[in-house]
Amino acid sequence: MTAGPTYEPIDPVRFIGNHSSGKMGLEIAKELYARGAEVTLVMGPMMIPVMANGISLVKVKTAAEMFDACNERFGDSDIAVMAAAVADYTPGTVAKDKIKKSDDKLAVDLVRTRDILKGLGEKKKPGQVLVGFALETNNEEANALDKLSKKNADMIVLNSLNDAGAGFGTDTNKITIYGKKGEKFAYEAKPKSEVARDIVEKIIQLHYA
Ligand code: CTP
Repeated sequence: MTAGPTYEPIDPVRFIGNHSSGKMGLEIAKELYARGAEVTLVMGPMMIPVMANGISLVKVKTAAEMFDACNERFGDSDIAVMAAAVADYTPGTVAKDKIKKSDDKLAVDLVRTRDILKGLGEKKKPGQVLVGFALETNNEEANALDKLSKKNADMIVLNSLNDAGAGFGTDTNKITIYGKKGEKFAYEAKPKSEVARDIVEKIIQLHYA
């Protein structure tokens, strides 16, 4: 399970991050554990308190660290759920010292990070279940289906920033789940703990029932 944002350092005091709280991923990790799974949560920097309670916690900061942590563990896992909001770009070089202000403009060169979900999709073995997330603001369904196939996932959980009760830092979420055989399941907005139950239930129903 991955959750939370990643922080990409610019210099010793600054980073590029995002608004992910990690709440949704944490709730899914708790639900998987409650249903009997051995769970490892690879988590980016999160502001909410995270109690292990039987879950193995692996704390990372950057997209590169998250990539390594996931790849080291994927071979031994039956289900991988990628809920983290991983940075797509990272500064090409990290300044050794704090950048001092000088000109009116400052440009930071960014390079692409590696896509964790896509990488796991490429090395997935029969029987391994890979679940991705899609957070969209427009063309939601088309983008979600595109991610499902391009990343070779088995399921994609879509949340749209346009839906009331969905998005960053909220305690509720409104999702649609897409399965790789064309299945589609739409849900009402509900507390993230209940959304986690719906997601885990669907993983089991579609892959283990
Ligand atoms: N993801 C990942 N590694 C990355 C980027 C994204 O594993 N470097 C995963 C996320 O955890 C999520 C899924 O890919 O499960 C979709 O993430 P999203 O940010 O919505 O999509 P992107 O692939 O980044 O595509 P785009 O930015 O074009 O929407």
